Amino acid sequence: MAFASSSVAERPFAPATTAGDVSTIVYRSRAVAPLSDQDLQRLMRTAQARNGREGITGVVLYDERQFFQWLEGPEEGVKRVMGSIQNDRRHTDLEVLTHYASPTRRFSGWDMKLAARGANPALWQSDVLEPPRAIIDDLRRRPASAPSLLAKLMPLPVAAGDSPLATSLAGKPLGNTTVSILKDVLLKTVIPLLHHHEPAAADAEDVPVNPRAAELAELLVASDQAASLSLIRELRGKDVEGRHLFAPLFEPAARALGDLWGDDFCSEVEVTLGLCRIQTAVRLLGADTRRSVVSSVQPKVLIVPAPGELHQLVAVLDSEWLWSEGWSPQSEFPATDRALGDLLSASWIDVLDLSLSAAFRRKDSLVRLTETIKQARRASLNPALLVLVGGRTFVEVEGVGTAVGADIVSRTSLNVDRYMVQGMKTVGEGLHCTEQCEDAVG
Ligand SMILES: Cc1cc2nc3c(=O)[nH]c(=O)nc-3n(C[C@H](O)[C@H](O)[C@H](O)COP(=O)(O)O)c2cc1C
Repeated sequence: MAFASSSVAERPFAPATTAGDVSTIVYRSRAVAPLSDQDLQRLMRTAQARNGREGITGVVLYDERQFFQWLEGPEEGVKRVMGSIQNDRRHTDLEVLTHYASPTRRFSGWDMKLAARGANPALWQSDVLEPPRAIIDDLRRRPASAPSLLAKLMPLPVAAGDSPLATSLAGKPLGNTTVSILKDVLLKTVIPLLHHHEPAAADAEDVPVNPRAAELAELLVASDQAASLSLIRELRGKDVEGRHLFAPLFEPAARALGDLWGDDFCSEVEVTLGLCRIQTAVRLLGADTRRSVVSSVQPKVLIVPAPGELHQLVAVLDSEWLWSEGWSPQSEFPATDRALGDLLSASWIDVLDLSLSAAFRRKDSLVRLTETIKQARRASLNPALLVLVGGRTFVEVEGVGTAVGADIVSRTSLNVDRYMVQGMKTVGEGLHCTEQCEDAVG
C-alpha cells in the first residue's frame, strides 16, 4: 500500500503524551474498491470490538471511496490500531492529517460510528449517522481540513434554556479546564508547528492551519480572556513572534467562529465578541513585538474595514503586520463611501486595504463593496490606486476579488507587505515610490 505521508512516528509535531493524555489521529485514505453496506458493516464490527478493548473512540466518514477517520484514546492503543489500519488492504494512499495529545476526548462514548450518506439506518441502528451535506461539500473541497470538519459531527451538549456554548464553556468551574486546554493547544501543537513550518508565501492555502483552531474558537466565545492572554504571552516564548500566530491560529479561529454561528451554536453577538477577544490578543501581542527598522521610503497605505462592515479583525491583523515590518499605515473607520472618498482625496494614498468580516462570508455585501471600490478610485488623488481586499469571502470563493473590482486579494495577513509591493509593481506606472518600496521590503 502506498503512503502519501510519513508514518505517524515520524510526524515532526507528533507529541509526547503524558499519563492521562488522549492521543488523537486524523487521517484520510481511499478505498481500493467501492464498499457496499455489508462491507462497511463487517469493517465496523471488527473496529468497534477492538476499539472497545483498546479504549478507542472516534468516527469514520465514508464518501465516494474516500475515508476520513478520527481515532482517539491511549497512545499505545492508538498506535497498535493505527498499525493495523495502515496495513489494511481495503484502502490505500493513507495520509495522516494531524496527530496530537490533549487532555480531553472529542467523541466520548462513540467506540466508532460510521458517517455515510444514504446508509440504511434500519441496518445500522445507532451506529451510523447522516453527515450534513455542508460537511461533505467542505471535505471534498478542503480535505486537509478534515480534523475540524469531522469534529463538527459530534453535537455540543445542550441544556434547556441556554445556548450550547454558553452552557458548556461559560462560568467559573470551567475556567481551569479552558486554560488547560488552551495551554495544551499552544504548547503541544501550535508552537511546535510554528518551529517546523515557517510559512514562506502569503497564501492561506500554504499556511498550515492549526487543526484545533475550531476548538479555540469555541473557547474564545466564552473563555476567561485575561487568563488566556497571559497564557498566550507566556507560551509564545522568546523566539516566536505573536504575528506568527495570525495565519495558523487566529484567522482560521475567526472562520470557525463564523461556522459555529452557521451551525446555530452561538449568536452573531457571540461571534463579534469572540473576534474582539482575538483583536485584543493581537494588540497585546503587538505591544511585545520588535519592530523592523522604520523605512524612510514606504508606500502610503490606508487600512479600512469596508464602510458598513462591523468586524475589524482583518484590518487589525494587516495593520499589525505592516507596523511590525516598519511601515506606518493609516487606519481609519469611515462609516460611508463618501467619508472614505474624503480620506482618499485629502492626501496621496498608494494602497487602499479594504476588508470584510474574517468570520462571515458576507455575500450580501459584495454589490455594495463593488460600488465602494468604484467611488474610491474616482475620489483618489492617485489615478493608479492599488485596491487590496481581504476577509473570509475572498479566502473561500474564487474570483470574488476581481468581480468587485479589486487589484489584489489578500487571503491572509501573512506577508501582506510583499503582496502590496508586488501589486504596485504590476498595476502600472505613475506610482511615486514603487522602486524604492521594493528595495525597502527587500
Ligand atoms: C478505513 C478503515 C478504518 C478502520 N478503523 C478501525 C478502527 O477504528 N479500529 C480497529 O480496530 N480497526 C479498524 N479497521 C480495521 C483494521 O484495519 C483491522 O482490520 C482490524 O483492526 C483487525 O486488525 P488485525 O487484522 O491486525 O487483527 C479499519 C479499517 C479501515 C479500512
